[in-house]
Amino acid sequence: MDRIIITGGTPLHGEIPIGGAKNAALPLMAAALLSDKPLVLDNLPGVADIHAMGNLLAELGAKVDFDAVARRVTIDAGAADETTAPYDIVRKMRASVLVLGPLLARFGKARVSLPGGCAIGTRPVDLHLSALEKMGAVIELEGGYINAHVDGPLKGAHIIFPSVTVGGTENLMMAAALADGETVLANAAREPEVTDLAHCLNAMGADVAGIGTDTLRIQGVRMLSAAAHSIVPDRIETGTYAIAAAITGGDVLLTGAQLATNEAVFGVLSRAGVEVSEDQGGVRVARKNGRIRGVDLMTEPYPGFPTDMQAQFMALMSLAEGASMITESIFENRFMHVPELVRMGADINVHGASAIVRGVHGLSGAPVMATDLRASVSLVLAALAAKGETEINRVYHLDRGYERIEEKLAACGANIRRASGSA
Ligand code: EPZ
Repeated sequence: MDRIIITGGTPLHGEIPIGGAKNAALPLMAAALLSDKPLVLDNLPGVADIHAMGNLLAELGAKVDFDAVARRVTIDAGAADETTAPYDIVRKMRASVLVLGPLLARFGKARVSLPGGCAIGTRPVDLHLSALEKMGAVIELEGGYINAHVDGPLKGAHIIFPSVTVGGTENLMMAAALADGETVLANAAREPEVTDLAHCLNAMGADVAGIGTDTLRIQGVRMLSAAAHSIVPDRIETGTYAIAAAITGGDVLLTGAQLATNEAVFGVLSRAGVEVSEDQGGVRVARKNGRIRGVDLMTEPYPGFPTDMQAQFMALMSLAEGASMITESIFENRFMHVPELVRMGADINVHGASAIVRGVHGLSGAPVMATDLRASVSLVLAALAAKGETEINRVYHLDRGYERIEEKLAACGANIRRASGSA
């Protein structure tokens, strides 16, 4: 297993290119199953989860062609004939459950392994299932699998999500695209990745209205056609590298990044004393004078502060002047980075869903490891600012969602390298 070794203390200066959003690309790839014509996705991020989704689609009989140089995937599900998403693939990547809606809509049946819990919480899919049942699906849970079928097409329905779910909204939007009649999704997720999926579905011939609001109206169509779509920039990769610039006292241009889809994160960073501006088609992030100030925040569905940025922000707050209260309202167990940050010298106390972070003057390098993607990257950020050497283990978590992270950071002056094999 690879490790990443960082010697901290160098302010980052330069440019970091921001890729397409992993969490937009995954549902977009699943959407290819809705049609027997090819879907071409550009601005594809080169991360491990994308290849896992490619493998799943290939397992279902789709033809999946990756072009790494063009950052493109072409998915032709014309010959797809398999409707089972097996445990072995789903357990490695929860987003596999996003094939449930498309398979059921196009083939009238799907057998998808239940994802089970993961490091950040129990993460059930009950909201996906009850909404699909409202559309006429018959669903049974058996042997760890979701067995779903419907006689004839799915039926349009009025669905009110009891709480906001990104994946649930995406699964239902895809299912509704080929349903009989109109589906209304109320209290729908409004994340930019959900919006990106809606635009792509419309490019394929679907009829989704209310895009960007919490009420989506989807008029079902009989079939979808070929389309090409360019994936939105990754707002979490953007926010992560913004914090890398801030935590090291550097000045970095994030090329291809958007301010508009990241207002909550950049708003909080500005309040903490970080300079953020639109520049040359990207976003410039700098911290030149003084320490970062402690700022309180709570994670919320979009347009609130994203849970996927909570761990990175906590690393920054661990070096702030004053205290910060960080409340996690989306997942019940998303503080696994805390003990590792504490081992690096941070002063953090967790009380239920909130963490009190009292800023310290310096962190020190240590061997660390984390159990999910964003927790791992928060340790990379802490290491960039820490005195001495930090060795981050279980790098495969980082590779799931960050493309060439060590190269991007090294290009801005970070002392970072990847070593193969565990210590
Ligand atoms: C998506 O997960 C993202 N994954 C996550 O990113 C992200 O943290 C999350 O949205 C919240 O923004 C992808 O897009 C592939 P949810 P998802 O359904 O769709 C509960 C990362 O690091 N819930 O919005 O699974 C659930 O347990 C990952 O890139 C139910 O109770 O998230 C959670 O507490 C991690 N029943 C809350 O809702 C359900 O049926 C929000 O989950 C569905 C969800």
